[in-house]
Amino acid sequence: MKVAFKSVVVSLILVSWSQAADLVISKNTILSTGDTLIKENLIVNEDVFFSIDKGMTHNFYQDVRINGKLFVTNKEVRTGMTIDVLGANSAVVNTGWIVLDDGNATSAPTFAWYGASFENSGEVWFAGIGNTGGSTFAIQPKGTFINTGTISLYQYNSRKGGTSHLGLDDRTITNDGTVCIYQNIFFQASIVKGSGCWDVGLDSNFWATNVKTRYMSEGQLIYLSTTASSIRIDTYPPNLPIHIAGWGNNNVIGLSTSIKSFRYDGTNLFITHGSYTYQIVIGPGYDPALMRIGQATYGSGVGTISNAGILYSGPVPHGRPSQCNECPPPPRAPTDTLEPTPTPTPTTSNSQTTITSTWTGTTTTTVTDTDTAGGTDTVIVVVPSSTETESKSNPQTTIISTWTGTVTETVTVTETVGGTETVIIVVPSETTRDRPTATQYITTAITLTVTTTTTGTTTLPTTIVTLTKTKGT
Ligand SMILES: *[C@@H]1O[C@H](CO)[C@@H](O)[C@H](O)[C@H]1NC(C)=O
Repeated sequence: MKVAFKSVVVSLILVSWSQAADLVISKNTILSTGDTLIKENLIVNEDVFFSIDKGMTHNFYQDVRINGKLFVTNKEVRTGMTIDVLGANSAVVNTGWIVLDDGNATSAPTFAWYGASFENSGEVWFAGIGNTGGSTFAIQPKGTFINTGTISLYQYNSRKGGTSHLGLDDRTITNDGTVCIYQNIFFQASIVKGSGCWDVGLDSNFWATNVKTRYMSEGQLIYLSTTASSIRIDTYPPNLPIHIAGWGNNNVIGLSTSIKSFRYDGTNLFITHGSYTYQIVIGPGYDPALMRIGQATYGSGVGTISNAGILYSGPVPHGRPSQCNECPPPPRAPTDTLEPTPTPTPTTSNSQTTITSTWTGTTTTTVTDTDTAGGTDTVIVVVPSSTETESKSNPQTTIISTWTGTVTETVTVTETVGGTETVIIVVPSETTRDRPTATQYITTAITLTVTTTTTGTTTLPTTIVTLTKTKGT
């Protein structure tokens, strides 16, 4: 009896709030004064937002409890922001939204959330630009890390790098929710428990730095959600299988060294290098004839290793796993305290279009696709080869269309014969406007024209893929 009483007292002390004063936000508040040092416990009540929209450095020294919505953005165009949780005893609990978005900056930000503990059952976005070396995103408390909601590690523009960590190296974290990785690199350096999802999105790499000592429980599912997603698995094989979904269309499952052989038994993919074999659960529906060992192209910040990848040229046999929450882009910060608190951005996945062309005469194939806001639309063009055995890989093209006014972007891509050409169209959501990018290639043999037309903020963009090809001379 005495023992039981004692344990109750102990647990009360553990959950008690720190002794610092409280800064309670109980009505919609926009703070535009510049840098902040928050030395009180920050509490944002349910149904209200607190938006800090100016400044370069924002530090939290005590507890951070968000039941409503916290936005930290910068309406001024400056170099990257620093937004840190620094208190050794800081407990972070989020049941609402935490949106750190440095999308206006000219260089990448640093968001380092240390403190004592981190618990998320809501949604968290860490967003910055990725084309200046990469953003630093870290949520690494000394103690508990539990995610049952969604955490997005999101980079705008193209990826030049990025350093994202959840949990301290070699310590245990629990993921029962979803972690979204977008145009970014995630360094998996903790032991991961629970039954959650890792959505490895566009131009993103999940780097499992040591699956033997930093293992993931079998409940964790790594979902390669685009054709430009990859996972790099570093030594040595763990004693338990690794679960991966979304493998197909030549996205990469790879190691840090050459793969000697592989085998598929209808559910598991066994990959061998030297005397080590990794067991990967990929599920049924794959055709072993379409699997091959190839270059592991992990992208900027991770590198390319020859023969370290295993690729599947067929389509992904399964849809988005139900275990994975949607991965919406960061929501826009409110600009007026009278604005109702923002509602979640709609997220819808777009279809994949596959065009198989023939290699006779000159033909034009036009495919018209209507997209929904958010997500990506993938167009895969199967490029013919003049001989049966010829097989070359073609480049991947990414088009990010804008979401204001009427814009038509045309991208011309040059193909080599054989293989597939993948065109990924990033369909804008309301919050990712004004980020147009188009890539231009020179044509030699086959011409693929992708036209994305957007006619306003309320209508959906239309994608027209025109494939024109001329028989080689
Ligand atoms: C970028 O700047 C605009 C205009 O000042 C502002 O409305 C918007 O909220 C800013 N976005 C971010 C992510 O800071």
